[in-house]
Amino acid sequence: MTAIDRIRSRFPSLAREVNGHRVAYFDGPGGTQVPVSVANAVRGYLLDHNANEGWNYPTSRETDDVLHAGRAAMADLLGGRPDEIAFGQNMTTLTLRVSRALGLRMGPGDEVVVTELDHHANVDPWKGLERERGVTIRVARMDPETGTLDLDDLESKLGARTRVLAIGAASNALGTVTDVAAAAERARAAGALVYVDAVHYAPHTLPDVAALGADFLVVSPYKFYGPHLGAIWGRSALLEELELPRVESSPASVPERIETGTLSYEAIAGATAAVDFLAELGGGVSGGSGRRARLADAYATLRDRGEALFERLWDGMNAIDGVITFGVEPGGPRTPTLGFAIEGVDPREAAGALGEKGIFVTHGDFYATTVIRRLGYGGRGILRAGCAAYTTEAEVDRLVEEVRGLAEGSTGNAKTD
Ligand SMILES: Cc1ncc(COP(=O)(O)O)c(C=O)c1O
Repeated sequence: MTAIDRIRSRFPSLAREVNGHRVAYFDGPGGTQVPVSVANAVRGYLLDHNANEGWNYPTSRETDDVLHAGRAAMADLLGGRPDEIAFGQNMTTLTLRVSRALGLRMGPGDEVVVTELDHHANVDPWKGLERERGVTIRVARMDPETGTLDLDDLESKLGARTRVLAIGAASNALGTVTDVAAAAERARAAGALVYVDAVHYAPHTLPDVAALGADFLVVSPYKFYGPHLGAIWGRSALLEELELPRVESSPASVPERIETGTLSYEAIAGATAAVDFLAELGGGVSGGSGRRARLADAYATLRDRGEALFERLWDGMNAIDGVITFGVEPGGPRTPTLGFAIEGVDPREAAGALGEKGIFVTHGDFYATTVIRRLGYGGRGILRAGCAAYTTEAEVDRLVEEVRGLAEGSTGNAKTD
């Protein structure tokens, strides 16, 4: 069995068919498929350990263990410590909560810098502080020609009154990877905190909170083969200080004080299994024994495969008349996620037609509303195809061929044979 066959054999959903066509899932940037081990961890928790935390009987103690294991897994993935990891419903909920807490210390004259390249989950929670606290929001621009963030413009937006730089590590719409470390250095020099959205980055590049210069970093395990869940890493001194609305008897300790109510322990069990799944993909080439070292191996393997798949996808799409591709070329700083448009074809219709052929792509603005508007596709949106650990060359070729058919159909050039 080849390495990719071994990976694929772990995902039962890859056997699904539509109209006799095997499904090719290019919708990973919206949420990946899950391997059996993740589903089993969720099921196993619910069937064998289901309880609330903090009580003194076996299933409750086991639930405590599940939570600790989840924090440890996420710490290995992000390069932090387990006591710096908190869980929440999703990235958006965690960002709303932390932005409100940081906002309590801000007032008129204070500034937050956001970017045009970001998912609005890392824009609008901060923008709310304008209305609520009179904070000034400054927006660093993206270059629509290259699909990259203009770091000089970002630097010009940072100043003595900047309190927070909210920045995405990778664009979920275009795949662009931003040099967060460079931006964070500039923000830090200005005395600002750095809040990093790594939701689209973490499935493709192993985050390292220290190297990125983050003060907070958020991810969503459902984008990297886990269940629907959000997780945040924060520097413990900052997590301790955050002024968060709390229920009186809920724990005041770090990291529990970030969390609200009863957590989804089954999703946390699944997230641990997702990190373990990722750690297995590298085959231990570097000989490192810890999970973080195995994750580093796995991500190196994923990057090589992703780059090769992306180049094939990019070249295939660019060879089609009427297809417009966006963002950084292969080999540049990007994930294997392609934003594209087909001239004269409505993206929703195109996604529907591809879906009937068993090719699942997403369409619209993906909540990266400003990105799509700056590209000139506001309202109608674009198409997005993302390669994941289970994507094959044959699937990429199928996608390209079906898109070719749609493009030719729209200009009346469809082959009839
Ligand atoms: C880059 C990026 N940031 C934030 C989010 C929001 O994540 P969640 O659904 O966990 O709130 C997404 C989801 O698509 C995303 O892709």
